[in-house]
Amino acid sequence: MIEAISVVGLGKLGAPMAACFAAKGFRVVGVDVDERKVQAINRGEAPVFEPQLSDILSSAHGRLEATQDVQAAVLTTSITFIVVATPSEPDGGFSLRYVVPVCEHIGRALRRKGGFHIVVLTSTVMPGSTAGDVRRILEETSGLRAGESFGLCYNPEFIALGSVVRDFMNPDFLLIGESDPRSGKTLEDVYHRVCENKPRVARLNFVDAEIAKLAVNSFVTTKISFANMLARICEGLPGSSVDQVTGAIGMDSRIGARYLKGAISYGGPCFPRDNLALAALARRVEAPSDIAQATDNFNRAQIRWLADVTQLCLPDRGAVGILGLTYKPNTDVIEEAAGWLLAQELRSRSVSVVVFDPAAHTKTKAVLASGVEVASTARECIAKADVTIIATPWPEFAKIEGTSWARSSAARTVIDCWRGFGFLEMLEGINYICLGTGAMLPKLERVTEFTSAEFRGEPGVPQLAGEGGAD
Ligand SMILES: NC(=O)c1ccc[n+]([C@@H]2O[C@H](COP(=O)([O-])OP(=O)(O)OC[C@H]3O[C@@H](n4cnc5c(N)ncnc54)[C@H](O)[C@@H]3O)[C@@H](O)[C@H]2O)c1
Repeated sequence: MIEAISVVGLGKLGAPMAACFAAKGFRVVGVDVDERKVQAINRGEAPVFEPQLSDILSSAHGRLEATQDVQAAVLTTSITFIVVATPSEPDGGFSLRYVVPVCEHIGRALRRKGGFHIVVLTSTVMPGSTAGDVRRILEETSGLRAGESFGLCYNPEFIALGSVVRDFMNPDFLLIGESDPRSGKTLEDVYHRVCENKPRVARLNFVDAEIAKLAVNSFVTTKISFANMLARICEGLPGSSVDQVTGAIGMDSRIGARYLKGAISYGGPCFPRDNLALAALARRVEAPSDIAQATDNFNRAQIRWLADVTQLCLPDRGAVGILGLTYKPNTDVIEEAAGWLLAQELRSRSVSVVVFDPAAHTKTKAVLASGVEVASTARECIAKADVTIIATPWPEFAKIEGTSWARSSAARTVIDCWRGFGFLEMLEGINYICLGTGAMLPKLERVTEFTSAEFRGEPGVPQLAGEGGAD
C-alpha cells in the first residue's frame, strides 16, 4: 500500500494536491524549483492563493515537507505526481518544456531506486505525449521499462481554481490512463483514500485519457458559449430572460443545468486553452476542428461586443469602471478573464479605464503597462466611472450600498453581466443594464446596428485565428 507520495510542481494545482494528500494521512514530499514556494510549504503557509489551502495545510500535521530536489523526493516515496506548467504553443498545442527535465530527474532517480515506483503525469498534455516523449525519456534515463519495472499513469484533474480543495476531494469522476493494470489500480486506491465521495473511474490507455481530458473542457466551453448565445438572443427580444430559458432547458437530462448561466466569456488557465488544444489536435490529424474553433471565436468576439455596448453608453471622454479582473470569484488569476480582456480592448480604443478587483494582483507589470487606472476600492472605481461593468460576480460587490452606485449629476450606467444586482434598477441616478434580458433593449436602441458584423457572424467576415493561452 502506498504510504509516501511526491508532488513535483507546487503551483495552483500541485500545492493543494500535496496538502490534500498529507491531510488524508499520506507522507508527502513536495518539490518545486521556486525556493519561495518550498519555504512557504515548510513554514506551513500557502504558496499560492487558494481558499481552504491554509486550513488543509494545518490539518497536514507535519506530514508535508518540501524540497527543490526531485531525485531525493522520488527516492523516499513510492509514487510521484508531475504537476508542472505546460504552456500553450502558438498553434494551441502544449509545450513539454517543463515536463521533460522533471522526467529526466525522475528517471535518474529510478535507476538508483529499488522497488516498483509509479510516475503519474497530472499536467495537461497533448495526446500522444505520455506514450511518446514522457515514456521515452523516463525509460532512457532510468534504463527501465514502463509497465514492467515502473508504472506510468496519465491522470489529469478537473478542478476549478477557487474550489481546488473541494473539487479534488469530491471529483465527478477519475480519469486514469495507465501503462499496466497494477499501476492504474494502485492510483485508484490512492484516490479512494483521498476522495470524500465515491467517484466513478475511467481507466483507459494513455491516448484515450489524453483526448478525454481535452474533450471534457472543450465540451463545457461549448455549453457555456451556447448559453451565452441564448443570452444575446434574449437581449434582442423584449420580455425574455435567459435565466428562464436556461432554467427550463437545464431540466432536460440530456442537457443538465450546470454551466448554463448565459453571461459573458469564459476564461482562466484551462478552458480557453484546452478547447484550442482540441482544435489544434484535430488539425494535426486532419479532422474537422470547426466546433472547437467556433466556440473560441465566439468567446473572443463577445469581449469586443461588450466593448461596443460599453462605448454606446459612454459620454464623450467618459471613463469606464470594471469591477472584477479575475476570471471567476475566489481566485487571483486574471489570465484570459473577461474583465481583464475587456479592459485591454477598451484601452486599445483609447477609452479611459479604471479597474478594481478584491484579489487580483492589480499591481503587476501587465496591468500597469496596459494603461488602466487601478482603484483602491470598489467604491472608488465606481465613483470615477461614467459606465461601470460588473465583470466578475465577487460577493462583496453585492454588499456595496445603493448610494455608492448612484450619481446625482447624470445617471451612471451600470452593466450587470451576471444579473445579480437587480436592486439597482429601482434606484434614482442609475441606468441599469442587465445582460441576458430583453429589458436591456430599450436602453440600447442602437446596439444591434452598432454591434460588429464579425460578432453577428455575417458572411464574408474572416474568422479570427485562436490567440492561444498560457499557464
Ligand atoms: N490551475 C488549474 O486550474 C489547472 C486545472 C487542471 C489542470 N491544470 C494543469 O496542471 C498543470 C499545472 O498547472 P498550475 O496551474 O498548477 O501551474 P503553475 O504555473 O501554477 O505551477 C507550476 C509549478 O511548477 C513549478 N516547476 C516548473 N518546473 C519545475 C521543475 N523542473 N521542478 C519542480 N517544479 C517545477 C513552477 O515553479 C510552479 O510552481 C498544467 O499542465 C495545467 O494545465 C491546471
